[in-house]
Formats: sequence, C-alpha cells, structure tokens
Amino acid sequence: MKFNFYIRIVVFAVVFQNLSFGQTDAARLSLMPWPHEITVGTKKLQLTSNFNLSIEGNFHPRIYKAANSFLRRLDGQTGLFFKQGVINASTVFNKDAQLEIAIENKGKTAINEDESYVLNIDSSGISLKAKTDIGAIRGLETLLQLQQTNSESYYFPEVKIQDKPRFPWRGLMIDVARHFQPVEVIKRNLDGMAAVKMNVFHWHLSDDQGFRVEIKKHPKLTELGSDGLYYTQEQIKEIVAYADALGILVIPEIDVPGHATAILSAYPELASKQGTYTIERNAGIFDPTLDPTNIKTYKLLEAIFQELATLFPGKYVHIGGDENEGKHWDKNPEIAQFKKKNNFKSNHDLQTYFNIKLQKILKKYNKELVGWEEIMTPNMPTTAIIHSWRGVNEGMPAKQSLVNAVKSGYTTILSNGYYIDLMYPASAHYAVDPLPEETLSEEERKRILGGEATMWTELVTPQTIDSRIWPRTAAIAERFWSPKEINDVDDMYRRLGIISFQLEALGLTHIKNRSVILRKIAKNQDITPLMNLTKICEPLKGYTRNKGGTEYQSYSPFTLFADACSADATDARMFHKMTQSYINGKTTADDLINYFKNWKQNELNFYAMASNPTLAKIHPISKNMAAFSEALIPLLQEKGASSEAFVNLNTLLDTLSQPCEDVEVVLVDDLKILVAFIQTTE
Ligand code: ACM
Repeated sequence: MKFNFYIRIVVFAVVFQNLSFGQTDAARLSLMPWPHEITVGTKKLQLTSNFNLSIEGNFHPRIYKAANSFLRRLDGQTGLFFKQGVINASTVFNKDAQLEIAIENKGKTAINEDESYVLNIDSSGISLKAKTDIGAIRGLETLLQLQQTNSESYYFPEVKIQDKPRFPWRGLMIDVARHFQPVEVIKRNLDGMAAVKMNVFHWHLSDDQGFRVEIKKHPKLTELGSDGLYYTQEQIKEIVAYADALGILVIPEIDVPGHATAILSAYPELASKQGTYTIERNAGIFDPTLDPTNIKTYKLLEAIFQELATLFPGKYVHIGGDENEGKHWDKNPEIAQFKKKNNFKSNHDLQTYFNIKLQKILKKYNKELVGWEEIMTPNMPTTAIIHSWRGVNEGMPAKQSLVNAVKSGYTTILSNGYYIDLMYPASAHYAVDPLPEETLSEEERKRILGGEATMWTELVTPQTIDSRIWPRTAAIAERFWSPKEINDVDDMYRRLGIISFQLEALGLTHIKNRSVILRKIAKNQDITPLMNLTKICEPLKGYTRNKGGTEYQSYSPFTLFADACSADATDARMFHKMTQSYINGKTTADDLINYFKNWKQNELNFYAMASNPTLAKIHPISKNMAAFSEALIPLLQEKGASSEAFVNLNTLLDTLSQPCEDVEVVLVDDLKILVAFIQTTE
C-alpha cells in the first residue's frame, strides 16, 4: 500500500492534534489506548456492504470468534448489511478481501505474549499483520475505533499504525465477594477490557463477605459461605474460556489467612480463635484468621488450589495475604507457643511461614504465587509476585512497596493509584504511572510488570458496577498500554467521552443504569431535574461514604441518588473551563448567567414533581443551587453589589459545600473562585 501524503507522528498527542486534522477531513480520531506509532493520511477507505475480511497464516481458533464479532460490530456501527456472513475454518480465506489479516503464530493467553500488530489502511484496502492472533485481536479493536462517519458515508481514514503494549500486565480486579457479580456482569466487563486492550482479569473470589467458587471436595464452603451466590465450576470454565477468546488471562484470588470469615463460616475448626462464624455483612478489616499452625488448614487450601488449578489454566494464583492484623493469633496460646518453638519473632514471620507453605502447594500444581504487598517479608522467596496497593490512605508513601519489591528482586504489579472504587476522577488515575520516580536499573524496571485497576464492591451491585468501572478504566488501560508521553488530560477526556459510548454499545450499562435508578427514585416521573443534578454531584470520595464500614451492609439498598451519580460528573470540567474563561477575560458573563438561570429553572421543575421521601432528601441540593444562582446572577450582570450580598453568597456556598445524601456538589471550588473574583473586581 502506498501513501501519497502523510504526516508522521510518533507519540505526541498534542503534535498529532495540531498537525494532522487540518490536513485531513477525517474526524479527530478517538483511539484509546493511543497507539505506539501512528501516521495519518488524507485518503479514505469507503465502507460498503461488500466489506469483507480474510485471515491467513497460523492462528488459534479464537480468531474466528474475534473476526465474527468484529464484523458484526462494524456492521452494527454502520448499518450497511455486510454480505459477508459467519466466518469459520472453511470460509476464512478470501483472496479479494478488503481487510487482510495475516497472523504468524498461535497466541497463548499469558503474560508477555506478543500482542503487537501493524495496521495499514489506504483507499484500496486494509492490512492487519500480527505475530499472534492476540495481537490481531488488539488490532481489530483499533480498527473499530478508527471507523469514521461523514454526511455521505462510513469510512476508515488512511493510517499506518505500529502498536504494542508498554506493560505486559494490564489488569482489572473485580471483587465478587462483597457483592456477588453474576456471569453476565463478568462477561460484559471482559468485553470492555478487550475493547481497551487489557489482558488480565483478577477475580477476587473470596473474602469475609463470601466464598464464591464451587469446590467439589468441600461443598460446605459455598453452602455456608455464600448465601447461594457463587459460581459453579461450569460457570468458571465458561468465563475462563470467554476471557481466553479475548486474549485475557484470568487469575483467581482466595484471600487468606485474613479476610477469611466466609471460609471459617464453613470450617470454624480452622480458626485461630474458637467459636462460630457467620458471613460478614459490614465492610472493613475483621479479625477472623485461619490458624497457620493447624495442618488441616493446609489440607483445605490444597484441596481448593488443586481444583482451581484445573479450572484456571494460567500460571498465577493470588493468595491475598493483606490486612492480617494477627489479633486472633496474639490471643491464642498454642499459636504463641508455635511461634516460640519456631523462633518466629513476629506475626510477619508466622505469615511468611504460612505463605511459603502455600507457595510450595501451588508449585505442585505448576502455579506461581501472587499476593498483596504484605506478603513481602524478609524471608519470602523472590519467586512470589508482589501486588503493591498501599498508599496515603494506609499511611504509606505511594509506590514504596513497588520500589522495595523490585529492588529486593521481586516482580511486581501496581494498584496503588488505581483504586476505582474510591470515586476519584479519571485524571487522577491517568496521572499515576506504573513506574516510580526513582531511577531503576533496566533489570529492576523490567520486574514491574504493569498494573491493575481494583473494583472493590462494598458499595457496588451488579446494577452499578459498570458505572464504577467505566469509562475511567479505559484511561487506566491507556496508561498501561500507551507510551508514557501520551498524557494530555484534555485529549484523554475528549476520547474517553467517545469510548464511553462505544463501551455502552458493547453492552456495558454504565450510562443507562443511571436513568434506571433515577426513574426508581422519581417513581416514573420525568427524571430531567434529577439527571441535571447528577451532572454536578459525585458520590463521596475515598472511604467517607461508608463511615466505619457499618452505615451500609451488603444487603443495604444501592439504588440511592449517590448510586446514580458517579466520578467525573459531566459539568465539572465544563464549568471549570467556563469559569476560567470568564476570569481570564476571554468570555463575557453570558455563558455563566445562562448556566445559573438553568439551575433556577431546574428547581422550578423539581418543585413541580410529586414528592416522596427519597426525593425530599435530595431536594435541598436543587434548592441550594437555585438560591445560589438567584443571588449570583445579578452580580454577574452588573457591578455595585453590597457587602451583604457577598456574605449571603458565601453562606449559600457553605451550605452547598456540605455533603447531602452521600454526594458532594463538585462545582463548589470553582464557585468559590468565581465569587472571590467578582468580589475583588467590584
Ligand atoms: C486491599 O485493598 N486490602 C488489598
């Protein structure tokens, strides 16, 4: 394929924006993650119903599913009624195809598999070349994101792309213990992961609040530890196969020796403190802990790992290991005696003993041990993989354990900075690089495999989980895949908005379920006044929503206004820019005046709704925004306000700053800046 004209852009998104789009009428591209190298030309490949593809080379049959899915999704994006139907082994080769896919080798779903691809599009056709079918699958996702539309046609722009991941481990962890997530939830999130080129699904299958995987030898684990909410082994196999077809490795986690209340509900005799145990309903760190001195503890864990080893063909098993405060160990005289006899100076030594025994068991089944950073103790062999997670919330410097791990010879992955349950904006996660600031040797650097976004589900149900994962995780996926220099936040948000709709089209419910919850709250009235409030309200961040972990139980309702809200409330960035533009003299006050007039109207509409107890609790947010708007508009219209007017505005601002119904109004900082600016320019 020849390019008559092209502009070469290596990695700088900013350069890309400034140069390329003026030269081509292709819409601004919205690829995410951004490719390693991209060159954009001026030609187009028009799409018609004759669009078809062909695959040649040596490949794993997963490519058939991917190619069929690609064709149907592209046809869905364009509505062209492609003539090419279902692709299978006998129809896969077609020498006149517009899209030629060439694959060198069968791919294996594993860390460090080759996922690179080269994509060339010109007006005569498309060539997608990859070392493995998994690389081809990554390239097909790029192609779907490249498809453009103008008034006459659907088309692909002329591009040359060479792409490969920056990190081999690009994960999403989903906690299915705190709130069980059914098979279809997992599958649609796997689809979302593949759409943004993630390759590790870390499945947090057990915790204090539930043990969620069928163990045939020990049915009591799910009989007594799951409320009947667990995956059968058939379902596990189904999900592992589904993930494998997308080139996603599944890593199971059984969190031990702490976070083990659900296991102890079934086997209290393995506890460090005698008693009966029932599934935990609150959130937090709990004391029940497996007894590491009891041989039967290892028998049970071996039985579990043996069955998991057959269900999960991947190389890794995560054993948790986090947040064991050892309180029940300290109170048990036999455990104290055991420590003394073995010359263990601390509970860390005892936990290391436990971890090493688990590592040996896993080795028997050809598995490598992964654990949260607490497993990194002086005697822990460096063959364990350290999952770094603690940070300021736990009184630790961010990435400290990551640096310690690589410097001590461990391989490691980073989750600190990627805790999406904490409801921080995408920009906060996007700013966190898996590599630390410290200078590392090449060897040390290579031991940082990548990172994982973590979806803890204390406050998350199947109805809301997608809105907590997406679209922010796409920005994290870009951090793991794309060159470090791709870091323009405005451009990230521009693309994220578009990717978000594509993820919804794929089946994720992060956008539509907001309306579902609001309709439930409004009791089937027009939800516009509530929807407008979700544009300025975000759930409380960090761990402040669920104070002490006991405000909400696992069976509490998560259909509240806060559950309809999410991070990155849509007006937050827009309003910030509008305010800055006014302050910097770039625009008049008109946009702001109109914006605040809308809040007055919104309150009239809210007031007109038939009230109910839930609506009544949210109503103050609308009332306060309207009162603030009423007071501010005259000051934006003309100068000469009295000092009482500012006292009044600041009082209203104080009220707006207070959390209400577990949400905060995210405009408040900008509103304060705006009021202060008006006051100083009076
Ligand atoms: C963790 O967040 N306890 C790993």
